[in-house]
Amino acid sequence: MPPSQPPAPLRPLRLGVLASGSGSNFEALVEACRADALPAEVALLVVNNPGCGAEQRAARLNVPCTLHDHRRYGSREALDRALVDSLQGAAVDLVVMAGWMRIVTAELIAAFPDRLVNIHPSLLPSFRGARAVEQALAAGVTLTGCSAHLVHLEVDSGPILVQAAVPIASGDTIESLAARIHRQEHRILPLAVLLAAQRSGLLGSAQA
Ligand code: GRF
Repeated sequence: MPPSQPPAPLRPLRLGVLASGSGSNFEALVEACRADALPAEVALLVVNNPGCGAEQRAARLNVPCTLHDHRRYGSREALDRALVDSLQGAAVDLVVMAGWMRIVTAELIAAFPDRLVNIHPSLLPSFRGARAVEQALAAGVTLTGCSAHLVHLEVDSGPILVQAAVPIASGDTIESLAARIHRQEHRILPLAVLLAAQRSGLLGSAQA
């Protein structure tokens, strides 16, 4: 029998994060990594809006950041090919869409099969698409929340990893409700990354 191989050294998971806006979920992920709540590091942030909050947070947190302005690409596929080049160039294992306000294509999904996570501000499958917080308020439901899920081609679909419920109070505004949902997103997103990494064999459960 050949001698058994020594176990591969454990190394932190390399995360790529895509963000279009304020970047609070991006920062929550960086903090979770730095607090050892997640055996990972954010290796690269990609933004599509020059000067967005996420880009500013990356500078403050010392996380490498690349801009791919979608306005400079002729198609969604061309943008996604550029994203894949950057993410693979940074040797990223798993990608998190943390407020990525672009519809993604098979170019990106196929490059990170079961390794592409999205965070959405509703209890999916309710209130898919844009303005999910407004949709929940307009529908008059008393409970909404957030969902972290693996990304499939249909917008805001794919296996759900973690959800958190947020009750709607009478008198809630879009801003007050969105703020409470955000706090829950920051809590569940690192957990969802851990679960996605375990599901796809990137991490053993002992590493969690
Ligand atoms: C979050 O509410 C997320 O669910 C949605 O976009 C928002 C991003 O917020 N997809 P931030 O930029 O992370 O603060």
